[in-house]
Amino acid sequence: MSFDTATLANLSTRLQVEDIDFDAFRARPLPPDVLRCLRSMHDVESHTVCYLRDVLVTRAHRDPEITSFLTMWNYEEFWHGDAIGRVLAAHDETAGPARIGALRQRLPRSDRWRPVGFQLASALTPHLTAVHMTWGAVNEWTTQAAYARLARLADHPTLSVLLRRIMRQEGRHIDFYATQASGRLAGSRTAQRMTRWALRRFWAPVGSGVVPGEEVDFLRNYLFGGADGQNVAERIDRRVDRLPGLDGLHLLSDAVAA
Ligand SMILES: [Fe+2]
Ligand SMILES: [Fe+2]
Repeated sequence: MSFDTATLANLSTRLQVEDIDFDAFRARPLPPDVLRCLRSMHDVESHTVCYLRDVLVTRAHRDPEITSFLTMWNYEEFWHGDAIGRVLAAHDETAGPARIGALRQRLPRSDRWRPVGFQLASALTPHLTAVHMTWGAVNEWTTQAAYARLARLADHPTLSVLLRRIMRQEGRHIDFYATQASGRLAGSRTAQRMTRWALRRFWAPVGSGVVPGEEVDFLRNYLFGGADGQNVAERIDRRVDRLPGLDGLHLLSDAVAA
């Protein structure tokens, strides 16, 4: 696996939606369960800039390859949130700044202190970046799989086109995070131990701490419940297993079983 940030910078673009007929959702609306997933996905995509805040207070900001990637990543994720917001708006639901502003008012108190914790941890160890890159890989794998599952379950031609385009960009995010994680973990047993401990101790499915817990549970059960969902979770776990020193964590399988 390899990654070239210069290539990403050239490929990076605002998600193309000009040719998507969002009014098609008025003629054929999405079912309530699919809309419920999309609300959370809109919120999580729109929260990317806040995740970026947490990473930039660490030594990761000294690495120009990482900051180049994060610049493109934040931009692309913003437009993912915007596009999903347009789907919600076509169902006469609140989306965009009004919804995002309300969500940020409800963030837990821990949100205020997270950057402080990361800054301190980063001052104490150079390996926090390995944790962040691995965390990013796991969450991008999960996000891409969640979109694939949602497209299949919704079986709506317009939504499928939109999600396929988003998934293509998520694929490039995966390539970056997985390449960074792999390289950093391969170079240090301490990084492996620390990342293993952090994932075991703190990892929770994407959206945890941003959207309400019952919505995270709903996403998990709706998208990863049943035999098909379990297979997807196990596939992601096998990808985590292949990262140096991280075999046998079963993060996704355990989360789905819970
Ligand atoms: Fe995204
Ligand atoms: Fe992504």
